[in-house]
This record gives sequence, C-alpha cells and structure tokens, in this order.
Amino acid sequence: MNQDLKAILVDEDEIQQIVKRISKQITDDYKGRDTKLLLLGILKGSVVFMADLMRNIDLPFEIDFMKVSSYGAGSKSSGNLKITLDIKRDDLSNIDILIVEDIIDSGRTLSNLTQYLKEKGANSVSTVTLLDKPSRREVEYNATYTGKTIPDEFVVGYGLDYAENYRYLPYVAILKSEVYSK
Ligand code: IMP
Ligand code: MG
Repeated sequence: MNQDLKAILVDEDEIQQIVKRISKQITDDYKGRDTKLLLLGILKGSVVFMADLMRNIDLPFEIDFMKVSSYGAGSKSSGNLKITLDIKRDDLSNIDILIVEDIIDSGRTLSNLTQYLKEKGANSVSTVTLLDKPSRREVEYNATYTGKTIPDEFVVGYGLDYAENYRYLPYVAILKSEVYSK
C-alpha cells in the first residue's frame, strides 16, 4: 500500500457489492417510464463509479457530465457552487436526472446543484453517491441512493483525489493526515 495511506476503508469486493446493489435499485425504480433517464456524472471524482454503474444498470439511459465545485484547493469546503462545465441540453422537461457523485461532505454541492437542475426544468432530479460523511453536513441533504456511510476521515481512491493525486487506486483508502496538513 502507498505510504501516504492509513488504511483501506472500502476494498474492491465491497465496492462491487455496492455497485450491484445500487444498480439493481436504480433499475427497479426507473424501469417502465416514458421519460428519459440521464446519468449526470460530476467531474472528476465520479468517473470510476459512473463507469461501474453504467455497466450494471439494466436499462437504456444517456450520460452527461458537469464540472462543479464547492471546494478550494484544500480539504475544507468553501460553500459556494461554481459551474465550470454545464449540462449540454436545453429541454430537460422529459428527462429524469440521476446525479452521480463520489462523496457528500457539507452537502452544499448536491443541494445547490439539485436546485439548479430543478430550476432548469428537469422532470425529476435524484442523486446517487458512493460515499457519505453525514457528520460533516452543513446543509440538510440526503442522497436518493447511498453506497456507504463513512466516518469523518479524508479518503482517496476509486476516483477521489487529494490535490489531483490517488484517483487511480482501485479501492477507497484513508489518507494520512500528515499528507494534507503539511
Ligand atoms: P460538499 O459540497 O461539501 O458535500 O463536497 C463534496 C465534494 O467534496 C466531493 O465531490 C469531493 O470532491 C469533495 N470531498 C469531500 N470529502 C472528500 C474526501 O474525503 N476525499 C476527497 N474528496 C472529498
Ligand atoms: Mg467531487
């Protein structure tokens, strides 16, 4: 294991169990609708989870990406939503959006983004997150589908980064605090 890591928190087997469980729930919930399902991945942290969900949801759907952040360079949330890549569609009235996120921390990103997409006229807006740190919430927010609730630790891997590093790890691991406090 990389020496910057304290421990593996979610290993590859557990991630695949989560992907299978959530994909089945999504398949059951969205089947038989007249509307179009759109998986909307939030760049960059969700890409690995998104790719796994895409191959396990047993329904037709389209994909798109947005790049938004409520984070500065460090590991503490700043609170305001910044859109750097917007959704490339005008008419969302026939679209059920399922936002795919890596982790919920303060809740600000998903709370603001959900509001934004509803105002743009989406038929529905739901969210799936791999990880949730409810003890860090600053605004009330609950995802529709949650992979795993975790304690207040800074985690990396399976898409999640610290300063753009560690996204390629196949598991989710706790980063040693020395790495981000130095
Ligand atoms: P929120 O708006 O505070 O909920 O921020 C969620 C975003 O913060 C996620 O999409 C991640 O990009 C980032 N984030 C929060 N906690 C972690 C973590 O433990 N590791 C890596 N990124 C994190
Ligand atoms: Mg993110």
